[in-house]
Amino acid sequence: MVGQISGFAALALASLSPSQLTFIHTLPKAELHAHLNGSIPISDLQQMAHEYTRTSDKAASDLVQAGIAKLQNGVVLDEIYDFFNLFPAIYALTSNPISLRRATKVVLEQFLDGMYPQCTYLELRSTPRETEEMSRLEYVRTVLDEVERYPKARAGLIVSLDRRMSVEVVRECVEIAIQLKSEGRRVVGVDLCGDPQAGDMGIFADYFFQAKQAGLGVTLHIAETPVNSAEETLELLSYAPNRLGHATFLNDEAKSIVRQNKTCIEICLSSNLLCKTVTTLDDHHIRYYLQHDHPIAVCTDDTLPFRTSLVGEYALLLAARPLGMELSEAEVQRIAEMGMAARFG
Ligand code: IMP
Ligand code: ZN
Repeated sequence: MVGQISGFAALALASLSPSQLTFIHTLPKAELHAHLNGSIPISDLQQMAHEYTRTSDKAASDLVQAGIAKLQNGVVLDEIYDFFNLFPAIYALTSNPISLRRATKVVLEQFLDGMYPQCTYLELRSTPRETEEMSRLEYVRTVLDEVERYPKARAGLIVSLDRRMSVEVVRECVEIAIQLKSEGRRVVGVDLCGDPQAGDMGIFADYFFQAKQAGLGVTLHIAETPVNSAEETLELLSYAPNRLGHATFLNDEAKSIVRQNKTCIEICLSSNLLCKTVTTLDDHHIRYYLQHDHPIAVCTDDTLPFRTSLVGEYALLLAARPLGMELSEAEVQRIAEMGMAARFG
């Protein structure tokens, strides 16, 4: 089942001809940038909230219900920072192994099942969370149990590190990723995510290096807002990442490093438009990378708040202006091939 889609992606999708729709549906596509807790279909989250209300005190359940109502009505963000306030309500619903397992299962089904799956291959990412009911290691094992129900050619897991983490927690998360990979579990990479204004990037260098040494792919959310400094961007690029999330505000020096290294850029069109870091599709940095035939992967980021799907994001590429970018089928196919080529797994 595909969650409710609306807004830019839904309008683009509705404008396609049946043959364009078939083209997108049958195109082999990789989803490489999808956050687990940002991708739970709203109908499942509502059911989970309903059950939570029966077992929790009023204050906690009111908070969750308010958060879910906001998501259900369609989130309007004044700026990107509003986005991070959406997660406490979702996190309350995925704080034990049973609910986390359930959430992971429906997210995987959303992307990988059905007559026309959203993608051929999914690299799901999630931040290990310690709660009263599970350790970070249990968190990752629980998510992996569900990911590994699919063949290796269809799904892998990226362990996310949050910019707000302490150095001790970063160390623990990277150790977990390396340990589980060495046990043959399906961890394929590590990610840096979270509030773009938070954290000290200096603490991450050693750990991304260790992850690379262990054969894990490295992807970093980078230059997501104009507030992210050029120094920070260059520091993150010095970790020699394999892929970059967003990379919206790279200066010329950073662009030249990225192009020289052919670092794949994970492009999330609806996410950028809704978080207002990009004004229109015409202004989107995807155009720069297409002009230079630079590797990109088109992805959803968070299907729940951005009310999109991978098919919806591809519709934005193919749809006629002003709803989409009006690319040719050959250009869209090339983009899909670049996404498939950038898989870690
Ligand atoms: P989780 O890692 O499965 O818990 O997914 C939700 C988390 O992903 C959020 O709490 C954020 O830290 C992170 N996240 C989701 N979307 C973005 C984004 O666009 N930029 C930075 N971090 C993000
Ligand atoms: Zn993201």
